[in-house]
Amino acid sequence: MRRYVRMALLCLGCGLCSLLYGSSQLALEQEPGWGKPQARDPAAPVRRQRAGGEESSGKCKNLSISYWNSYWMLPSDVCGMNCFWEAAFRYDFMKTQPAEKMHLAVVACGERLEETVTMLKSAIIFSIQPLQFHIFAEGQLHNSFKGILNGLQYQGKFNYTVYPITFPTESAAEWKKLFKPCASQRLFLPLILKDLDSLLYVDTDILFLRPVDDIWSFLKKFNSTQIAAMAPEHEEPRIGWYNRFARHPYYGITGINSGVMLMNMTRIRRKYFKNDMTTARLQWGEILMPLLKKYKLNITWGDQDLLNIMFFHNPESLFVFPCQWNYRPDHCIYGSNCKEAEEKGIFILHGNRGVYHDDKQPTFRFIYEAIRKYSFGDDLVNFLLQPLELELQKTMHTYCGRIYKVFIKQLTKSIRDIYDRGSKGS
Ligand SMILES: *[C@@H]1O[C@H](CO)[C@@H](O)[C@H](O)[C@H]1NC(C)=O
Ligand SMILES: *[C@@H]1O[C@H](CO)[C@@H](O)[C@H](O)[C@H]1NC(C)=O
Ligand SMILES: *[C@@H]1O[C@H](CO)[C@@H](O)[C@H](O)[C@H]1NC(C)=O
Ligand SMILES: *[C@@H]1O[C@H](CO)[C@@H](O)[C@H](O)[C@H]1NC(C)=O
Ligand SMILES: *[C@@H]1O[C@H](CO)[C@@H](O)[C@H](O)[C@H]1NC(C)=O
Repeated sequence: MRRYVRMALLCLGCGLCSLLYGSSQLALEQEPGWGKPQARDPAAPVRRQRAGGEESSGKCKNLSISYWNSYWMLPSDVCGMNCFWEAAFRYDFMKTQPAEKMHLAVVACGERLEETVTMLKSAIIFSIQPLQFHIFAEGQLHNSFKGILNGLQYQGKFNYTVYPITFPTESAAEWKKLFKPCASQRLFLPLILKDLDSLLYVDTDILFLRPVDDIWSFLKKFNSTQIAAMAPEHEEPRIGWYNRFARHPYYGITGINSGVMLMNMTRIRRKYFKNDMTTARLQWGEILMPLLKKYKLNITWGDQDLLNIMFFHNPESLFVFPCQWNYRPDHCIYGSNCKEAEEKGIFILHGNRGVYHDDKQPTFRFIYEAIRKYSFGDDLVNFLLQPLELELQKTMHTYCGRIYKVFIKQLTKSIRDIYDRGSKGS
């Protein structure tokens, strides 16, 4: 039975195609030059052969559609004809003119599959430019990641590669036993992804509440000495961890948090770092092991501590972005202390301390749940924002729930921006 339905669909499809082809030929005869190619259209050479290079007429705009929207809706003044060809040459087009991709890396081990996928979903929902995911995961998670990501019907907006966890061979054992499984992998990303210029690394417990494009754009704001960007570990020194407990140097007044780390890896690989181990400056690949050996007994938070030590000695190399780009429970459980978030909303949420999975900070958990349950294609207002706001109102009695409006301020704006972009036809 199923087979017959499929056959029927196939026939219908073929019929439609030949009809389209027929009518396009007709249009060609009646109006020579429906698609005189424009110079900046990369599919042009191919199309010229087919269309015979006739002159343009008025009825169809000779505009080429260089994007593909998932709803199959055409801007009002574009002829279907253009798209018919465009679709045929889309692959060719992507090869000749790739859009600038944003590269996002995450390291997932243990029970972090669902959390990681939810993070990736939040990146896909709000972002504008295409994304390339670099997923470093333990072997047993590889097939699950591939299965889930292949199932997300959003081809063209993202692509991904899954990598095994790897360390420089000579010191692999030492690195592996040092921290939580895989935690130090991120330090090696500039050495592993050798050909990549820039990368945004995030922890698995991150949720994007605005386009990745916006944090990516900080790369262009780096001055000539900056190589990486992170947020402070604390806003309020009285509750800061590093300034009260650290037994090693750290960046600035309260240290930095490495859960959201933007890197110009070209510059990281080129730089010679000042350090307190030798008088000579060392490159990224040479400094990690001596640093680990020296501070092994004094560090608490693993690789984040090593980054703090490095940027203590090289402060001119760090671009510090404000706390709403890495908003954690610490910003609200001891009283609201991220002023920028109060004004502009939270841009990137960081549910550390496991708050997405327990009942300690339901404000964080409800946002996580809302994005986890959302299915692509559903209306973002009715199926994400409104139900979420109702849930958040129930958290008013908690420390973070008191300022729940701060949590959805940017989210609301991001959703509105998506609708605005949609109605402009892209
Ligand atoms: C079609 O393209 C030609 C140049 O290739 C241009 O002069 C003309 O204005 C275009 N027509 C429309 C309707 O865009
Ligand atoms: C997607 O990533 C794979 C590697 O995982 C790569 O071979 C392929 O070229 C990429 N596709 C696009 C369109 O970038
Ligand atoms: C990263 O730094 C290199 C070297 O300064 C530069 O050529 C490149 O454009 C930078 N990348 C970005 C995305 O700004
Ligand atoms: C480690 O901590 C101890 C105790 O605070 C301190 O004396 C020592 O100098 C520290 N080691 C390094 C390498 O900073
Ligand atoms: C770049 O910015 C950092 C941090 O503000 C600063 O320390 C450094 O001196 C600046 N570099 C240049 C070349 O201006």
